[in-house]
Amino acid sequence: MPVVPATPEAIRHAAEALARGDIVAFPTETVYGLGANALDARAVAKVFAAKERPRFNPLIVHVPGLGEAEKYAVVTDTARMLAQAFWPGPLSLVLKKRPASGIVDLVSAGLETIALRAPAHPVAQALLATVQLPIAAPSANRSGRISPTTAAHVEAELDDRPAMILDGGRCPLGIESTVVAVLGDAPALLRPGALAREAIELVLGAPLAAAAANHRGASPGQLETHYAPSTPLRLGAVSVAPDEALLAFGGDVPAGARATINLSASGNLEEAAARLFAALRDLDRSGATAIAVMPIPAHGLGEAINDRLQRAANQR
Ligand code: TXA
Ligand code: MG
Repeated sequence: MPVVPATPEAIRHAAEALARGDIVAFPTETVYGLGANALDARAVAKVFAAKERPRFNPLIVHVPGLGEAEKYAVVTDTARMLAQAFWPGPLSLVLKKRPASGIVDLVSAGLETIALRAPAHPVAQALLATVQLPIAAPSANRSGRISPTTAAHVEAELDDRPAMILDGGRCPLGIESTVVAVLGDAPALLRPGALAREAIELVLGAPLAAAAANHRGASPGQLETHYAPSTPLRLGAVSVAPDEALLAFGGDVPAGARATINLSASGNLEEAAARLFAALRDLDRSGATAIAVMPIPAHGLGEAINDRLQRAANQR
């Protein structure tokens, strides 16, 4: 059983495992990550193997903060402004990779750019401080499935493939980081996530650009159908059938579903994001013929929630 509570001793062991080229799952404030030393090609290859990724999507590299980011990437003034505003936190910045960064090509799938993030979770920060290496980590799920927000989810996805699964409890934000490319031209939103677009645009003083076609090509994660439970999703539901499960939102919930989970009875989008993936997993096990999903507002974290639901619904 590779799941261990994230005590200081366990974190030290996890750092040793990473340093010798093993892969380790750890909590972040967004979702659990499956980490490898980003300077070690064989370790990074183990991540792709464990996830059964059909192709080599570029991975996010986790660093303690801006100082370390500067070692691996060219941090422009705009990128620095965003990092100072939101790091540590749920924002990944796609930047130009430094040629002498030492980050192995497999991490960025051969691209000349790199996605960097300083996670805020105390366990992730302690692990990074102990290991003193950049940690490449995608979400700790098998390819095409929902991101894990508890250690038990990671174990269900990956079993004993990671050398260790550090248990730091439930991820407080529960949805992946927002990915923004800052490559000289206008900053572009590549993936909506746990940091709302509005907060970023307030700091920039300008709207984020849409992901350009070349960025989307460079960010295969954007094209993938993803985050899928095996039960089909029915979006925009205003009523529910007795053989359906209901993913509800808000105070006015139709009765009669086989199972119901309300993402937020008070209509709070942060609370809804934090519960989304665990709720999908639970409803997927309810034996329903479909998961009916009530409409969710598009603003704030609603953009990321609707993005993930849309991908899950497109899966089939
Ligand atoms: O919250 C998160 O971001 C979690 C935790 C563990 O940090 N990680 C995560 O990683 O969600 P992953 O691999 O599941 O998603 C990484 C996303 C993908 O959409 C990928 O295509 C994009 O980041 N990405 C990574 N490097 C990129 C690059 N150089 N250019 C464009 N997109 C990139
Ligand atoms: Mg993922």
